[in-house]
Amino acid sequence: MKCKITHKPIKPFMSFGKMPIANGFLEKQDFSKEYFYNMEVGFSEDISLLQLNDHPKPEVMFNENYPFFTSSSKHMIEHFKSYANFVRKYLNTNSKLIEIGSNDGTFLKNFSNNSNNIIGFEPSKNVAELAQKNKVPTINSFFNTKTIANINEYLGNTDLICASNVICHIPDLNDLIKSVDMLLSLDGTFVFEEPYLGSMFDQVSYDQIYDEHIYVFSVSSVSKIFERFNLYLVDAIPQKTHGGSMRYVVKRKNDKSSQIKKIIEEEKIKKLDQIESCLMFKNNCEISKKRIVDKINILKNQGKSICGYAATSKSTTILNYCQIGCDQIDYICDTTSEKIGKFSPGMHIPIKDMDYFRKNQTDCIYLFAWNHKLEILNKEKNFKGYWFSHVEL
Ligand code: TMP
Repeated sequence: MKCKITHKPIKPFMSFGKMPIANGFLEKQDFSKEYFYNMEVGFSEDISLLQLNDHPKPEVMFNENYPFFTSSSKHMIEHFKSYANFVRKYLNTNSKLIEIGSNDGTFLKNFSNNSNNIIGFEPSKNVAELAQKNKVPTINSFFNTKTIANINEYLGNTDLICASNVICHIPDLNDLIKSVDMLLSLDGTFVFEEPYLGSMFDQVSYDQIYDEHIYVFSVSSVSKIFERFNLYLVDAIPQKTHGGSMRYVVKRKNDKSSQIKKIIEEEKIKKLDQIESCLMFKNNCEISKKRIVDKINILKNQGKSICGYAATSKSTTILNYCQIGCDQIDYICDTTSEKIGKFSPGMHIPIKDMDYFRKNQTDCIYLFAWNHKLEILNKEKNFKGYWFSHVEL
């Protein structure tokens, strides 16, 4: 395994075993052709970066049937409103703005009064089409040095590039950062948010790791990576989204905030920049797996029925790593029409709609969307069963 930025060899420190595509919800007739890969993770001490070893090609994951729409969560709509307010300070009246991985346009909609100077790049056809329908200018393609050549007027002239839960999906970080460099104006700003390594380690939320998340970043890693391209991390602001994320602000001038220096010091104390923290994480994942499997076995031995709530991509990692299937979980309910009526990747648990959930209540619910806990518990106040998840054991 090679570090994708430094090209130095790195050894995987952990395997989660055979994994299917995290968002590869499938029909019964496709079970026998299902694609699996060995999900191993490694750590480059050189740039403090946790990364997947092998992963499916992006084209396999982000296609015309990508089953995730940002606007499916009210909480995320609110989050993107506040994210938009945060970045407005980097824009002037005629500034150009690009979003990488703009999904259904939820973020860019907040800038609709400036739609001549806005472009979203979204590779998944179905979500890109929804954005276009909502009048958000969207290019249906991956964001890279080749595709940005088509937007000549943006080269060297873009004041703001934003991304959210996308940079960790892009295998070729070299090409990504080159593209950002080609687009940014002299005083331009690149802002992106990603699930944070420190939060993942603290909560043992190993389900952040799946095919689409090739990297899990920390402040130390982002700082070291961008410095290689003469771009500088100048600010980092913790976010509550996705169970703990970090917002990174990158500029051409190395003018670091005191907050960054403080977080980097904290990361050093926690050894987030070294392999030691990964080995501890590996141990904690094994303990977490044993706990959740034991817990489910106890519930089943007590004769309790269990369903899953929200067929998240994260649930694919949990279910396959812990080998939890239909004998334990009757069904998983979800709001996304692309998933309903299909089966979960790998373990083949049926996915049902919310109406089914209301009519077929189980004694217990595994909350796979644990990062949306408040929103969901508030919505499902009438359900009197027992809610649990692996992050709360
Ligand atoms: P993700 O964690 O892979 O981004 O997917 C979130 C999934 O959770 C998506 O399929 C929609 C589903 N979901 C619900 O079904 N109900 C909810 O209340 C929320 C917040 C999400």
